[in-house]
Amino acid sequence: ESTLGAAAAQSGRYFGTAIASGRLGDSQYTTIANREFNMVTAENEMKMDATEPNPGQFNFSGGDRVYNWAVQNGKRVRGHTLAWHSQQPNWMRPMEGSSLRQAMINHINGVMGHYKGKIYAWDVVNEAFADGNSGGRRDSNLQRTGNDWIEVAFRTARAADPAAKLCYNDYNIDNWSWAKTQGVYNMVRDFKARGVPIDCVGLQSHFNSNSPYNSNYRTTIQSFAALGVDVQITELDIQGGSATTYANVVNDCLAVPRCTGITVWGVRDSDSWLGAGAAPLLFDSNGNKKPAYTAVLNALNGG
Ligand code: G3I
Repeated sequence: ESTLGAAAAQSGRYFGTAIASGRLGDSQYTTIANREFNMVTAENEMKMDATEPNPGQFNFSGGDRVYNWAVQNGKRVRGHTLAWHSQQPNWMRPMEGSSLRQAMINHINGVMGHYKGKIYAWDVVNEAFADGNSGGRRDSNLQRTGNDWIEVAFRTARAADPAAKLCYNDYNIDNWSWAKTQGVYNMVRDFKARGVPIDCVGLQSHFNSNSPYNSNYRTTIQSFAALGVDVQITELDIQGGSATTYANVVNDCLAVPRCTGITVWGVRDSDSWLGAGAAPLLFDSNGNKKPAYTAVLNALNGG
């Protein structure tokens, strides 16, 4: 196959990208995105600050722009993200206790209700674990509402849209030897044991010199999958754009049946949150295919 999406589809997987609504008027951007990818994540437009700018007052203009572009072009959509310590609307940031807990529940119901039946998988909770060696939760206003906030978010999400897969999504949980990975693994194992509804784990996979790709990545994917959840690579970018590393990532996913898809976090280097200089994506800033693109396509086509 000659595109990433079609090549991934040979094994029942998808290949996606983050889409920024502000770039949908750029025809080079939309041409590449439409040709290569068959899954879309809104880079910012479905986050808490974008979708609920005032309490109880929802705004889906940006989210719908991305959603409609995707669906009109035959792509599926991952939802990103419902409960996160970052990118909260200003009104939510100072909240605490039971009123914040209720605001989180209302937010999940409002956003998932709007997109009910339309989303492949939601990142229900994003980045709730701490960096470093603790393996524990990150401090945040949501965490201070009580340790059960994550399971409440997942139970709320299941009721709000039973058709969507429900994911926990985080960065620096790709290296199996890291405490943060083990912390998330233990949470997922506990959720499965107690019947808390969770269907998938998102490995963001932002690789750079501080958190490089490690050859135990496949072990991480296999280990989460063995708990009975799907694994998705949700925000892949590799600083410097090594073709070899990109191929390793794809091959690790292909080696695990429950690794259901890969999303890169932008189309061209100039679209990356890291800046074009990081050269972390599959297309250069002029829209040309990079060696990493070819490496990914070849891997998806079976080497
Ligand atoms: O749209 C406003 C613009 O109006 C304003 O003038 C400008 C000035 O700051 O800001 C613009 O908003 C920026 C937005 O991106 C759109 O470009 C925000 O400041 C900026 O903070 C925001 O950054 C996003 C970041 O999440 C915020 O946390 C990145 O685009 C987005 O790629 C990044 O994505 C995250 C995932 O959601 C979660 N995992 C990590 C990943 C990378 O940080």
